[in-house]
Amino acid sequence: MEVKPVVPTHLGIIMDGNGRWAQKRALPRTAGHLEGLKALKKVIKEASVQGIGFVTFYVFSTENWKRSEQEVSYLMSLLVSKLHGELSFYNQYGIRILFRGDLEGLPKDVQKVINDTVTSTQNNSKISCILAINYGGRNEICRAVHRCLDEDPAYNITEEAIASHLDLPQVPPVDMIVRSANEKRLSNFLLWDSAYAEFGFYEKLWPDWNGEDVKQICFDFSQRVRKYGGVQ
Ligand code: FPP
Repeated sequence: MEVKPVVPTHLGIIMDGNGRWAQKRALPRTAGHLEGLKALKKVIKEASVQGIGFVTFYVFSTENWKRSEQEVSYLMSLLVSKLHGELSFYNQYGIRILFRGDLEGLPKDVQKVINDTVTSTQNNSKISCILAINYGGRNEICRAVHRCLDEDPAYNITEEAIASHLDLPQVPPVDMIVRSANEKRLSNFLLWDSAYAEFGFYEKLWPDWNGEDVKQICFDFSQRVRKYGGVQ
């Protein structure tokens, strides 16, 4: 059955190019991440205007621990300070914040701010902003299987069983995954969910993104014909 999409219900974003953005300006890599956060805010605002229901941002992967201790601790401290510090922004724009990933593997202060942010924004209903932190698609699938087996060692591991034990089973599968900085890889992002996702790769470095890029993505998505394995 052919379905002509209008805007994606769920958009996934691999934010890439923060380091290159900083390098071009002879700034430390951390300056690129700070600017990347500003881009994230512009993007989520326009996504809400466009009527997108869910946006998942790939903030920190299970592989990102390989970066320098200084960069990792900067990203963690950015989470702690900005999740608290931007609460009025989320509430002003009706943004509900959710998290996806192996959160128990994060420092305790980050876990606390995550729990506080989920609670403080739970009644916002304009758009859901999902932050994938300590996230890996393979890791999420493994954890989903373990949740099933913890419930019942004889659990029948079907596709439905895994889907209903992912981190956020209430969130619909991603419709489109986009990546900045001209890299064309999935990098372990939303592996289960991306089975029928559309893909878009864009040249601009992440810190340069703004609302116009969201409009372009919506246009590109509207040109796709989704067949879900059927015929046109
Ligand atoms: C990839 O660019 C970017 C990241 C791994 C981090 C993304 C994080 C943010 C934008 C900050 C979000 C903060 C909050 C509080 C939600 P890269 O560093 O791999 O860039 P490069 O490939 O040019 O080196």
